Amino acid sequence: MRVTVVTLFPELVAAVGDSGIPRVAMESGALQVDTISPRDFAVNRHRTVDDRPFGGGPGMLMIPETLAAAISAAKKRTIGARVLLMSPQGRRLDRAAVHALADEAALILVCGRYEGIDHRVIDTLVDEQVSIGDYVLSGGELGAMVVIDAIARRLPGVLGDAESVVQDSFEAQLLDHPHYTRPDVWQGMAVPDVLRSGDHRAIEAWRELQRLCVTATARPDLFYQRGLDERARALLTAEWLHSAATNV
Ligand code: ADE
Repeated sequence: MRVTVVTLFPELVAAVGDSGIPRVAMESGALQVDTISPRDFAVNRHRTVDDRPFGGGPGMLMIPETLAAAISAAKKRTIGARVLLMSPQGRRLDRAAVHALADEAALILVCGRYEGIDHRVIDTLVDEQVSIGDYVLSGGELGAMVVIDAIARRLPGVLGDAESVVQDSFEAQLLDHPHYTRPDVWQGMAVPDVLRSGDHRAIEAWRELQRLCVTATARPDLFYQRGLDERARALLTAEWLHSAATNV
């Protein structure tokens, strides 16, 4: 997967490849990230890339000439890439959107700055707008880095087996179960017995039950949307019967 980021802050975006899974993905060749700055296409002495909005209002906008030139250069570099503008006006990034983006061969992520960009650039050069949440950031760079990180995890061969299992829990539309490491008792709190039992079926059942309970509590919207399959119903019934029996 090749990702070209159009940004006035290339050094900020480059940091995404310095550590963690994106770094692994880049080192393995599964992911290539490069940047293009609109400032490199500025023609005047001051290398201007912004101007005041027509009709007044606060702040400055990115001017169309330099931004369009940078996007066009990115398109030439990465033929056939989907062009996404990072923007609070965009479609909210979620699991399904990340999957779809990870399936693309190449992406161009355009980062706005200031109050936004000239709308004619969106009309002519942008395929889709993507938001990472209902809040306004000072620019699209952090959003682009979120997209790159989420995609890197999904590229073939990047995650080891253990982490793929965690990812599978999200495939089942559930949040993750609690995790514990040594020591087995810390500040008087013991690790649940089942995790130290060596009984892998019991451990997996406990984890599945925890995922159901965590999701129902933290994200009831996800829980209801997912519904209860036979396995979940059986786990919850067994747990309910167990607590009813032990609470008498
Ligand atoms: N740029 C500014 N705010 C943003 C957001 N919420 N998501 C993506 N890009 C942005």
